[in-house]
Order: sequence, then structure tokens, then C-alpha cells
Amino acid sequence: MVRIPPQPNLVMIGFMGSGKTTVGRLVAQGLGREFVDIDDLVVRGAGMPITEIFRREGEEAFRRRESGAIDDAVRYPARVIAVGGGAVLSADNRTVLKQAGYLVYLRASPETLGGRLADDSDRPLLNVPDRVGRIRDLLVARGPVYATAGDLTVDTDQTSPEQAADRVVRWYRERTDRVDR
Ligand code: S3P
Repeated sequence: MVRIPPQPNLVMIGFMGSGKTTVGRLVAQGLGREFVDIDDLVVRGAGMPITEIFRREGEEAFRRRESGAIDDAVRYPARVIAVGGGAVLSADNRTVLKQAGYLVYLRASPETLGGRLADDSDRPLLNVPDRVGRIRDLLVARGPVYATAGDLTVDTDQTSPEQAADRVVRWYRERTDRVDR
């Protein structure tokens, strides 16, 4: 059984472009909590952008940096943490994150994600001509992992970031009120 600490973190999970950072920031504002973005921690630690880490050091090295940043981020409670889209594919990362709080899966269709990421050049895994095809392929493997890992799933296809954040804030308050009693 997973033991959730008294002031659980909220961890935003989901595919690239699902809104983890945007919604995560709004949730943090709504709850008066600190927001932490794991990709930002990795970039700061490496002193180079993610595309550069992939190019110079490879994906495995990026994943090691990512796991290290997650371990650092969960040392403190009551945060809102956005992890990169590949972070929860690691069973170790999932265990660490689950022990640190609640996981919120922001779901979206490949078409929605493709639209949001159309002009993006910061995602090395999507650096292919058929981006929506790649997203669809990756989601076949990743979708079930996100869905199983998430304590809450929020559909974002037809939801604004504000609406999604509102739903997460209300859900978190209900949960933590119950835990505190
Ligand atoms: C990745 C997602 C990215 C970033 C890296 C790898 C992935 O983060 O960590 O490009 O494997 O899905 P975002 O989900 O924040 O874009």
C-alpha cells in the first residue's frame, strides 16, 4: 500500500503538450503552493537545453538526470510538480512519485496534442515528419501507463487550462480534507 504524506505533493503527468506546466502553474496558484517543473530542473542542472542533452549525451543520460531531479523535488511536501512526458515510464520514478503524493493525468487525443505541438522545436522525440503519427505510436505504449498511474484523470481535449486546474484544485481539497480529519 502507498502511504501518502500529510501534505501530499500533486504531480502532473501526461504526454508532451498535455498542459502539465500550464495547468500545474494554475493549480499551484489556486492552492498557494510552490510549482516545480522537472524539465526546468534538468535544464538548469545540465546547463543546456533538452534537445542539446539528447544530442550530446543521449536519451539514457537525460533519463538519469530526470530521475535525479525527481528525487530532489520530492524531498519537500506540498508542491505541485510537473514531470516530463517520459518520466512515469520508469517504474522507479513511479514509485518515488506515488509515495510523494497524488498523480494527475492530463489526457488529450493525438490530434489535440499534435495541434498544440505543431510549432514546437524543443521536443527531440517529436523531431519527425509525421508528428501526429509518432504521437499516436508513443501513446499506444504510454497511454495505459499514464491512465494506470494517475489517481485522477482530467480530459483536456475540450477543457481550458483554467477549467482543468479548477477541477484538480477541487479534487485535491476534497481528498486532503478527508485525509486531515
Ligand atoms: C519527453 C517529454 C519532455 C521532455 C523530453 C522527453 C518525453 O517533457 O522531458 O523532451 O519523453 O515525453 P514535456 O512532457 O514537459 O514536454
